[in-house]
Amino acid sequence: MYNNILVTGGCGFIGSNFIRTLFKNNNFKGNIINIDKLTYAANPLNLSDIEKNYKSRYFFEKSCICNFDNTDKIFKKYNIDCVVHFAAESHVDRSIESPLEFINTNITGTFSLLETARQNWKEKKDVLFHHISTDEVYGSLGETGFFYESTCYDPRSPYSASKASSDHLVRAYFHTYNLPVTITNCSNNYGPYQFPEKLIPFMILNMIKGKNLPVYGDGKNVRDWIYVDDHNEAVIKVIEKGIKGQTYNIGGETEMSNIDIVNLLCESVNDLIPASENKNMEKGKNYKDLIKFVKDRPGHDRRYAINCDKIKKDLSFNQSIPFEKGIKKTVEWYLNNTDWVDSILTGEYKNWIKKNYSDR
Ligand code: NAD
Ligand code: TYD
Repeated sequence: MYNNILVTGGCGFIGSNFIRTLFKNNNFKGNIINIDKLTYAANPLNLSDIEKNYKSRYFFEKSCICNFDNTDKIFKKYNIDCVVHFAAESHVDRSIESPLEFINTNITGTFSLLETARQNWKEKKDVLFHHISTDEVYGSLGETGFFYESTCYDPRSPYSASKASSDHLVRAYFHTYNLPVTITNCSNNYGPYQFPEKLIPFMILNMIKGKNLPVYGDGKNVRDWIYVDDHNEAVIKVIEKGIKGQTYNIGGETEMSNIDIVNLLCESVNDLIPASENKNMEKGKNYKDLIKFVKDRPGHDRRYAINCDKIKKDLSFNQSIPFEKGIKKTVEWYLNNTDWVDSILTGEYKNWIKKNYSDR
């Protein structure tokens, strides 16, 4: 295991859960340095327990990954020997509205980090640049078939095109400069601390508020879903045992259509807060009455399905949280963590960031 791991985007959804999972891992005795620019998707509150419990091993640096000089200083200051690169603009709908930030952060930002690693690690052995990517780089599937590590890239949204581009840069640094890299391409994550613009938290919070549940198109688009802790356990396996230069697909082997997920969420929320007891719900209505089919997302990929036999076979990865259990945990988390939810919904978290991090 590495000693000084630089996590980028650690205040976001998957990154904050990763930091928690890594600190709990018995093989890891080192430090974590988190670089995050604190965009709208970040919430330093995601890590308040970590700041308290790992004071001597957790360090936060507010910084943009595109800023080469800052990252270079951070590499030297902490003697970084591993990068786990989560930082990205991550929402497809936003990439359709305004792609520029996706190009800046996902492509130029990844390039800048790779270059910092290359320059700092010239003489170093036992270092690793691990890049977190998505199954969306492979494009869209029809009714059958799966994405394999060997599937040709065919990204179709500005988000997936920017992630594909960053994957190519990471591979280019391996082949051209021998930079030790690994890449993982994972399917849709869900779980605690996900920003409520993504399907699952968005729908849960809309139900609580008694608002419509907008399902794009016919609701039959399919995604593969994985609980965030399972994704992060898989990433740790790759960091520990993955072969340099290789790509590993990670997935939950759980294909679900959007409409089936929304129906399941309606039932899960109703088990905990029955619609009849929710003061935001119109009398006599149940949560499924809130479902509204709306205009489709442009270029909406129809189906994602991932084959992850390689990581299962080569690195003994097995997911431990089946979908129904993960959904129950997730719904419970959003219903129990009202402070977190309210701070996001009211925008209060932004004031908190300004107050606490304006000097950094
Ligand atoms: P997120 O949007 O919740 O978090 C992204 C984090 O990156 C935020 O904390 C943000 O402040 C930070 N960030 C953004 N731009 C930055 C910059 N220029 N410099 C420094 N920090 C910056 O995203 P997420 O859902 O946690 O995704 C993390 C990674 O996992 C991304 O690379 C994404 O492509 C990948 N991924 C996500 C999923 C998913 O379902 N969410 C699935 C597969 C792969
Ligand atoms: P999303 O969570 O945005 O992830 P991604 O686009 O990266 O897969 O969306 C998941 C699926 O849910 C996708 O097919 C789009 C659909 N969706 C809706 O139908 N309604 C919504 O309000 C949102 C946010 C997504």
